[in-house]
Amino acid sequence: MKVATWSAPGKVFLFGEHAVVYGKPGIAMAIKPRVFVTVRKSRMAHHAKSPYIDSCFDEMGVRGSVYVNSQLPSSSGLGSSAAVSVATLSAINDEFGKKYRPEEIADMAFAIEKKVQKGRASPTDTTVSTFGGLVFITGTSRRRLPPHHFNLVVGNSLVQHNTAKMVELVAEMKKTNPRICEPVLDAIGEVTLAAMHHMTDAQKLGDLMNMNHALLDVLGVGHPQISRLVLAARAAGAYGAKLTGAGGGGCMIAICPKHLKSRVAGAIESCEARAFSTSIDTEGVRKEKDA
Ligand code: MEV
Repeated sequence: MKVATWSAPGKVFLFGEHAVVYGKPGIAMAIKPRVFVTVRKSRMAHHAKSPYIDSCFDEMGVRGSVYVNSQLPSSSGLGSSAAVSVATLSAINDEFGKKYRPEEIADMAFAIEKKVQKGRASPTDTTVSTFGGLVFITGTSRRRLPPHHFNLVVGNSLVQHNTAKMVELVAEMKKTNPRICEPVLDAIGEVTLAAMHHMTDAQKLGDLMNMNHALLDVLGVGHPQISRLVLAARAAGAYGAKLTGAGGGGCMIAICPKHLKSRVAGAIESCEARAFSTSIDTEGVRKEKDA
């Protein structure tokens, strides 16, 4: 029987989270764990139990059955809901012979994220998941950069966080302390611009990640468990480490020499956290071979 299976990658912010909300530049990257979604035409309503998937079917105006297999931890800041929406829309697009282009899929996925998350969504997550690779964000523009390979370790603190709340917290902080927070947001933008000039120098990128992490701490989006993971990764030999995404929990990333990846992952795991090593996923959403 004909089915359509599509997969979409997760994402990390290498530099510039929160600052991008204020129009400063940032760099995000698609990473290897993917979400796989299989859609089959069916008159029966699907039982996805996910508001994202329900919205994808509503948006496309069709009914079908759906099976999701995610390798990405959810609610950890790695863009899993965006990957689910992008892969589901693409699978429906294929199975039902709709002719939406990837740009339209990215826009629809963003609209779905906004609706389900009641207003707050990241256009970066849906763009990165649709197109893959490295994405430079500035203001409302998002453009793909030439790919670079980095040895990254992702540490998941397993501390639940809420992106909307963290974005709100930075807004409050900025309102209360404009003369401190505005230069900090500018400095984060400068860190991103400096990183753009050193994309092949992992050591330098590590230094810049350390600076970015400290600046995010000033904005109040740090978390003791994330700091613990960041310090453990650095002590195990990472070039640098920082929180990634909204903060207040969620995930951190470390950039490492290749031979130290498993040592860094082990150091993170010894802090009651999960870790996996990863690198760039240059492909965005893609069709999988049916089994
Ligand atoms: C969340 O992954 C990143 C933030 O900068 C929000 C956004 O970019 O929409 C905090």
